[in-house]
Amino acid sequence: MAEPSNRRRPRSVLITGASRGLGLASAAYLHRQGWHVVAAMRTPDAGLARLREATGAAPDDPRLTAVRLDLDDAASITDAARATEKAVGSPDAVVHNAAFMVAGCVEETPLSVWRQVLSTNVLGPVQLTQELLPAMRAAGHGRIVVVSSAAGVRGMPTTSAYSASKGALERWAEALAQEIAPFGLGVTVLVPGAFDTGLDKTVTYADPAGPYGELHAALARAGERILRSVSPPEDFPPGLARALRDRAPFARRPVGGDARLLLAGRGLLPDRIFRALLGSAIGLPRPGSLRT
Ligand SMILES: NC(=O)c1ccc[n+]([C@@H]2O[C@H](COP(=O)([O-])OP(=O)(O)OC[C@H]3O[C@@H](n4cnc5c(N)ncnc54)[C@H](OP(=O)(O)O)[C@@H]3O)[C@@H](O)[C@H]2O)c1
Repeated sequence: MAEPSNRRRPRSVLITGASRGLGLASAAYLHRQGWHVVAAMRTPDAGLARLREATGAAPDDPRLTAVRLDLDDAASITDAARATEKAVGSPDAVVHNAAFMVAGCVEETPLSVWRQVLSTNVLGPVQLTQELLPAMRAAGHGRIVVVSSAAGVRGMPTTSAYSASKGALERWAEALAQEIAPFGLGVTVLVPGAFDTGLDKTVTYADPAGPYGELHAALARAGERILRSVSPPEDFPPGLARALRDRAPFARRPVGGDARLLLAGRGLLPDRIFRALLGSAIGLPRPGSLRT
């Protein structure tokens, strides 16, 4: 049975996708800040070695625990939740960071791939949350952070499945926050801007020679512009650390100037104008221009 969290212990955080990218940078940063980090990864041996290198932690460091987690595998999720509770009791924070991104329009992306994206990015985090909530409710405190995306704020063309998953992630996080606030638990949605990680090296179903070729070319040009101002992964964790200090039952936070601008624009502008501005920033082909 899960132990209630004990305030004299270091604060504990479970981070998914800690093997690389923003998850690795966050795990290393929070470890340096004194947290007990439970780093959830598909390949813990390789990932833990990278984490030790990033933190300088000794092999027997009691504040660094790796657990195996494949969000596409229900048994692995149950095992990861139990291993987390064994290591830290009820975690003080859970960061749903891992995600799988594929490029492709709705029509181009096979339904089996849609299922895989929704399983990894939505249903996996939902199951992991279900598994951890009994202990977190009993502890009476804890923060759940879900890492969304600009694509969760507004569906992005040519990454339809990923956009759908991030939108769903945000909606269940909002619903969850209202369900668990009476137990003393809170939820933060983090919206990162563009960071230089492996996320852009995606699996792609985009067909440059197909009917959406012009759209893909426009998005590729926009991607090149974004890459010029992309931030290093190490700029992300301070934003996550601020989210972990949130006390409100629900919060949504941008991380990075581009994400701040996006959320401000969505809040201030009428939807029609917001969409038109984003469309022109991306360089989308004009409505009707691809009719054959
Ligand atoms: N980078 C950006 O510009 C950006 C922008 C907006 C939002 N985000 C969000 O930030 C988060 C981190 O992104 P990132 O840029 O760090 O991506 P990344 O470098 O591609 O890393 C993705 C992580 O997710 C893990 N993962 C993928 N499928 C998994 C599965 N089935 N089970 C468990 N773990 C799985 C990967 O593990 P393996 O090493 O085993 O593959 C990896 O650790 C994601 O939620 C992403 O949507 C990133």
